[in-house]
Amino acid sequence: MGSAAASPLSGAKRPRLTFLGTGYLGATYAICFAEMGYRVIGFDVDVDKIARLANGTLPFHEPGLENLLRRNLAAGRLQFSTNLAQIAEFGDVHFICVGTPQQADGMGADLSYVEAAVTGLSQNLTRKALIVGKSTVPVGTVEWVEQLVSKNAPADLGIEVAWSPEFLQEGFAVDDVLRPNRIVIGVKTEWAKDMLHATHKGVLDLAAAEGRTVPLMVTDFATAELVKVAANAFLATKISFINAMAEVCEVAGGDVVQLAQAIGYDPRIGNRFLQAGVGFGGGCLPKDIRAFQARAQELGVGDALRFLHEVDLINLRCRPRVMRLAAELLGRRSGPAGPDLSGTRIAVLGATFKPNSDDVRDAPALAVAALLAKSGSDVRVYDPQGMENARMVQPKLTYAPTLNDAIRSADLVCVLTEWAEFRESDPYVLGTLVASRRVVDGRNCLDSARWMKAGWQYRGMGRS
Ligand code: UGA
Repeated sequence: MGSAAASPLSGAKRPRLTFLGTGYLGATYAICFAEMGYRVIGFDVDVDKIARLANGTLPFHEPGLENLLRRNLAAGRLQFSTNLAQIAEFGDVHFICVGTPQQADGMGADLSYVEAAVTGLSQNLTRKALIVGKSTVPVGTVEWVEQLVSKNAPADLGIEVAWSPEFLQEGFAVDDVLRPNRIVIGVKTEWAKDMLHATHKGVLDLAAAEGRTVPLMVTDFATAELVKVAANAFLATKISFINAMAEVCEVAGGDVVQLAQAIGYDPRIGNRFLQAGVGFGGGCLPKDIRAFQARAQELGVGDALRFLHEVDLINLRCRPRVMRLAAELLGRRSGPAGPDLSGTRIAVLGATFKPNSDDVRDAPALAVAALLAKSGSDVRVYDPQGMENARMVQPKLTYAPTLNDAIRSADLVCVLTEWAEFRESDPYVLGTLVASRRVVDGRNCLDSARWMKAGWQYRGMGRS
C-alpha cells in the first residue's frame, strides 16, 4: 500500500460526509452517520425525494429511522440536496449509494446510476476527497470507477477511490448501520485507510462504549467487492437449501420446521435463515445472485457459481408450490397450466418481501397473489405497510383496507409475509369472518396447532 502525499484532511477526526443516492441504503447511512455526530449531506437527483427528506418525511418504511431523521435535521448536522457542486465542495468523503438493479435485458448489474453519480461528482470536485463505493457491484467495478474519476476530475486534486460494502437488512437498518457486525474497507493507500478509519470512528466509539468490538477488515478492492456478493449468495443458498428440504418433506411426509430446528442446533449450521416458505425476494438477494453468475461467466469461472442458478430455480419454484397447496385445500385439480381457481375467493395476507418493510420489489407474496388472480380466483390483498407500493406494481389486483376486510367471506386465506399482525391474530375470531376455514401458511409463521384447534384446515410449506 503506497502512502499518498500529506493532505490537510489526514488525521481528520470527523470528516464531512456525503451520500449520493437516498434510497434505503443512502438515506439510512446519511441519517445514522449524522446521529453519530458527523456533518452529512444526502444527495439525490430525485427532487421530490429530497424535498420530503429535508422536511423530515422518510420516503419508505424503516422502523426508528424517521425519528432520527427529524432529530438530526433539527440539530443542523443533516442536510439534503440536489446540487452536485454543493456536495462536492462540502464533502471529505463521498459515498456512492445508488442502485445497481438487474439489467433489463440480462442477468448482469446495470451500472448506469453508478456511472452517472461518479461522473457528475467528479466533474464538480475542487479539492482532494475520497470517493467510496457502497452499492453492490460486480468485482472489477472499482478500477472502472477510478478511470471515470481520472477522466472527469482534475488530476492535480488527487481524488482517491475505495470500496466499503454494506450489509444492512431492511427492517433492522438503523441497528445494522450503528452496530454493524463488521466493517470491510477495500483501499489502495494509507491515506484512504486513515480517512475511512476516521469516518467509522463513530461506529467504533459506540461499540467501545457498549463494551463491544467491531472487526474492521482492510482488504484489496476485489475482496471488498466480492465480500458483499459472497455474503448475499451464501444467505440465498441457505434459504434455498431449506426450501429444497421442504420440497422433499412435502412428498416424504416430513416436517421441514422440525428438520430446520434439529439441524440448526449444530453450531456449524446455525438456525438463522433456515425459515422455509415462499422464498426470498427483495431488491438484493435475487438480483445479486444473478449478477454474480453473470460476472463469473465473464471472468471464465461460470462453473464455480453454477449452483446459484439452482438456488434461483428452487426459490422460484416456491411460488407455484403455494398455488398447488391452495388448489389442494380448495379441492381443485392442477393441470399443466396450473389450477383453475375460478369461483373462489382468496385472501392474500402480505405483499412486501418481508415484514417491517414497505418494499415490494421481487416480493414472492405479490407474485403469488398475481398467480392466484390469474388462475381465476377473486383475490383480496392486504399488507400493513406495502399497499401503496403494491398498487403501483400490481395495479390490477384488488386491495382490502384492513385484515378483516381481506378475509371476509374468503374460501381460503394465504399468509405470505410473516407480519406480527398476522402471526398474532386470533384464529377463532378470524374464523367467524371467512366463508371456509382454510389457511395456507406460506411462511410457516402461524401456530399451526392453535389454528387447527380453531377449526382451520392448515397447510404449511414442507409440512405434512
Ligand atoms: C439482504 C441481506 O440480508 C443483507 O445483509 C444485505 O445487506 C442486503 O440484502 C443488501 O444486499 O442490501 P434484505 O434484502 O433486507 O437483506 O433482506 P433479508 O432479511 O436478507 O431477507 C431476504 C429475503 O429472504 C426475504 O424475502 C425473506 O423473507 C427471505 N428469507 C429470509 C426467507 O425466506 N427465509 C429465511 O430464513 C430468511
